[in-house]
Amino acid sequence: MIAIGNDHTGYDMKKAIMEYLDNRGIEYKDFGCGELTTSNYPDYAKAVGRAIQKKECDKGILICGTGIGISIAANKMKGIRAALCHDCFSAEATRLHNDANILAMGARVIGVGHALKIVETFISTEFSQDERHIHRIQMLEED
Ligand code: RB5
Repeated sequence: MIAIGNDHTGYDMKKAIMEYLDNRGIEYKDFGCGELTTSNYPDYAKAVGRAIQKKECDKGILICGTGIGISIAANKMKGIRAALCHDCFSAEATRLHNDANILAMGARVIGVGHALKIVETFISTEFSQDERHIHRIQMLEED
């Protein structure tokens, strides 16, 4: 189950991603804001982060104008590894190396077609299970 969250800038991209997931029979929960509302990106980062922390969802997608604010907010939450990716190489690498559980994107940075390819890469790439990467991910949880 994928948790999706967006602020007002990410509404159109969110709709396109939901349509993409619908067409592939991939389940998701929408925690994002609706059309034409002003909103605060930390609210949606926290809602998606909590869904992952509670294991209601195993991955998340977050969208704001740049992807920066919403990824910063998500990364303050324990166990959350949100990766801001605007290319497929990074989306693949962050799944393989960081076991990123959230993909963040900026709706004002890239187009929808590109975003859908990044989503496809992110959700279809499994973590490598490499010992080195497991160790480094464990280090992220240390104070
Ligand atoms: C909203 O104007 C914008 O600041 C927000 O979507 C995001 O880009 C913040 O990082």
